[in-house]
Amino acid sequence: MVAKLIDGKAIAEKQRALLIPEVSRFANAVGRPPGIAVVRVGEDPASKTYVASKKRTAQALGLNSWEHALPEHTKQAELLGLIARLNEDACVDGILVQLPLPKHLDAHEVLRAISPGKDIDGFHPVNAGSLFQGVPTLVPCTPLGVMKMLEEMGYSVAGKRAVVIGRSNIVGRPMAALLLNASATVVLCHSKSDVKAEALRADIVISAVGTAGLVKADWVREGAVVVDVGMNRDAAGKLCGDVVFEEVREKAGWITPVPGGVGPMTIAMLMYNTVQAAKLRHEGQGERG
Ligand code: GUN
Repeated sequence: MVAKLIDGKAIAEKQRALLIPEVSRFANAVGRPPGIAVVRVGEDPASKTYVASKKRTAQALGLNSWEHALPEHTKQAELLGLIARLNEDACVDGILVQLPLPKHLDAHEVLRAISPGKDIDGFHPVNAGSLFQGVPTLVPCTPLGVMKMLEEMGYSVAGKRAVVIGRSNIVGRPMAALLLNASATVVLCHSKSDVKAEALRADIVISAVGTAGLVKADWVREGAVVVDVGMNRDAAGKLCGDVVFEEVREKAGWITPVPGGVGPMTIAMLMYNTVQAAKLRHEGQGERG
């Protein structure tokens, strides 16, 4: 079997297009478009690239966007002060603090300081707790993007066995919660798991570890759906995921490429969350339609 490709770029484009009329409707009703504030601390090159891309996408959709680039030596109190001002700013609907933060800053305290209604990353404990209890509001963008991809494929996860590899707060844990909420049977693997044995029993394998070459063909059941959230560089400096794409595609039923798979979905879902947050604050309703 040669796997069908899950085209994240095309699905993300469709998701972005769906937002354009919503942005116009909101702007007509409220007198301004939804607004997103992105906070970046320090000079991490990957963070600079991600933030620039988020800003570009926001502008293309007609959102208001502000970038707050703070120096590496920023103190915790200064960062918390900026977040307090953004929480109070009526034109800001969504706040994103790009991670990782420099080591001297307490990321947990920073994320807790963001007003849950403006937490477009879905990382605040209130939003993480709501997701875990099965009543999600603002949901982390990467796992939300994976669910949208599965939906677009017409793939129902109900009753399926899903293996998530990696237990990060950004991807693995919320991914497991979303799959569980959609009635999949979920196994969340980590460094102490027998990952190969678990993956071999799975209908869906989602890898979010950050290790190139981790998921090989002999880890994957014939016809399985394989979603690669990894973002790594191979020995030649080329962007690659966690999955050995060329060999796994010969065995899987569906597979996401890297690049062009999950990556574009993350940013599209950030825009979706910004519009949802704006609507929730101004209309008391966040669903499309
Ligand atoms: N760093 C890597 N992924 C993310 C993300 O989804 N949100 C934020 N804020 N930082 C990240």
